[in-house]
Amino acid sequence: MVSEDAQAPVGVDTSIPHSARVYDWWLGGKDNFAVDRAMGAAMIQAIPGLRDMAAENRRFVHRVARYLVTEAGIRQFLDVGTGIPTPPNLHEVAQRLAPQTRVVYVDNDPIVLAHARALMVSTPQGRSEYIHADLREPAKIMADPTLTGTLDLDQPVALTLIAILMLMRDEDDPIGKVRVLMDALPSGSYLTITHPTQDFNPAEMAAAVAAATHGHMTLVPRTHAEVERFFDGWELIEPGLAPVMGWRPEGAPPADDKAAYYWAGVARKP
Ligand SMILES: C[S@@+](CC[C@H](N)C(=O)[O-])C[C@H]1O[C@@H](n2cnc3c(N)ncnc32)[C@H](O)[C@@H]1O
Repeated sequence: MVSEDAQAPVGVDTSIPHSARVYDWWLGGKDNFAVDRAMGAAMIQAIPGLRDMAAENRRFVHRVARYLVTEAGIRQFLDVGTGIPTPPNLHEVAQRLAPQTRVVYVDNDPIVLAHARALMVSTPQGRSEYIHADLREPAKIMADPTLTGTLDLDQPVALTLIAILMLMRDEDDPIGKVRVLMDALPSGSYLTITHPTQDFNPAEMAAAVAAATHGHMTLVPRTHAEVERFFDGWELIEPGLAPVMGWRPEGAPPADDKAAYYWAGVARKP
């Protein structure tokens, strides 16, 4: 029998865990390897509710896409740190509501590149494209011909950074890198961030960081004040930077909106 590692797509390193694949495993996907499952399981030891938290984060993606299209009038998205396709993906939610919506996806993991076809869909009206690139080189992302050929940068764009910034250490200057993207977008654009935090359960989050560090994975939870800094100068819309489950819930509000250890926020460029 051929081992699953031998079947890995070209460029995919199965000797160390990768966040996209660990996350895929939490979500019940099949695009992960033994090393990712071991890392994912170690982190569940630290935070037993982690799988539900990943699912809550995905539910937020769908909710915020609906908000941005129907209430904010957004028709263009730039999603950095896309992950392995998990239907419904952002473009599917947005294009169901506004078929002309255009989406550019960006990720730096070869396994996401291997699955990019599922993300690159042209309809008679809308379009979605994929760029293999790194948030640590934001100017390259903005200059990429796929981006400039898909998005009209004179019209508002929703930049979405969903569960990616915790993978960058402060030394990588995540605030500065995100600011390059924000500065390239016109007035009326939106920034959406979800970010894990130690604010709700410091002990469990500290254990998760220890498990990640042990497995050579970066995990930097950030406090409310630290996450809020990403939005500086843009207008946070109601309810501000909130627990992800409490951000404009559809239907009855959750009994405990701090059950998923993520902050979520959406801001508009003045
Ligand atoms: C935890 S997954 C989140 C996936 C998706 N946004 C979601 O919430 O369902 C984080 C993703 O960010 C990507 N990523 C991490 N660092 C990155 C970087 N510097 N540039 C581009 N993508 C990055 C990873 O490869 C991974 O696919």
